[in-house]
Amino acid sequence: MDLRLVHPIGVFDSGIGGLTVVRALMDRLPFENITYFGDTARVPYGVKSVETITRYALEITDFLLARRVKLLIIACNTIASVAYEAVAERSPVPVLDVITAGARAAAAATTTGRVAVIGTPATVNSNAYARQIHALRPDISVFSQACPLFVPLVEEGWLDHPVTRLTAQEYLKPILAEHVDTIVLGCTHYPLLKPLLEDLAGPSIRLIDSAEAMGEIAAALLRERDLATPLRIAPEYRFYVSDVPYRFQTIGERFLGRSLGKVEVVSLPG
Ligand code: DGL
Repeated sequence: MDLRLVHPIGVFDSGIGGLTVVRALMDRLPFENITYFGDTARVPYGVKSVETITRYALEITDFLLARRVKLLIIACNTIASVAYEAVAERSPVPVLDVITAGARAAAAATTTGRVAVIGTPATVNSNAYARQIHALRPDISVFSQACPLFVPLVEEGWLDHPVTRLTAQEYLKPILAEHVDTIVLGCTHYPLLKPLLEDLAGPSIRLIDSAEAMGEIAAALLRERDLATPLRIAPEYRFYVSDVPYRFQTIGERFLGRSLGKVEVVSLPG
């Protein structure tokens, strides 16, 4: 057997939000090994400059490549929107990212051709979603809304708190006024707000979770490139973070939807 096939999928994020992507991968690819890196010491990236985000992203890329990953997944919309090219240039293994996954799912889902993207300020300012959606379907109108308060609210665990509800109402107001039929959750923290956002958006609006879309895209890539593991044994999951912040375990397990197990702390560049 080619040993490269049992090498892990490398997944990374600015923090622990990318665990929503790991959760989707665990469900869709239950025999693949996964190595995760969350830059918990330097999160949030969403309000940082392109130069800083790119430098951090390349440090993480080098860290994961040194752990012999067979595929890299950028599980952070902010990193994907400003540093995808830099990471892809550095990496000898294929690179997937949540923006491509979310854009594809949104272009396929909309029937009216009116799509909204919500994300961090860095993601919204980069216009990366609009570019990718337009590359697939130039006829779609894309409306964007930065929601900087959502990340701290999710980290606080206020998933259906009155403060979060009011904040979400305020953020959704301008995009609902555009009569969109699809909203892309363009940040890895937002899937945890899905029930609340669904409630506010109403039944006629489809919410796109790019984490879920990534499960399918990763499975297709492994199949096409003959990279899927042939083994049918319990996989190994490794979680690395750059810091163990306050209430890390609880928040991490909420994102992952199961127990986190052992988490190792490393400092970058390492
Ligand atoms: N994980 C980031 C994203 O998906 C949000 C957190 C941050 O600002 O670093 O955009």
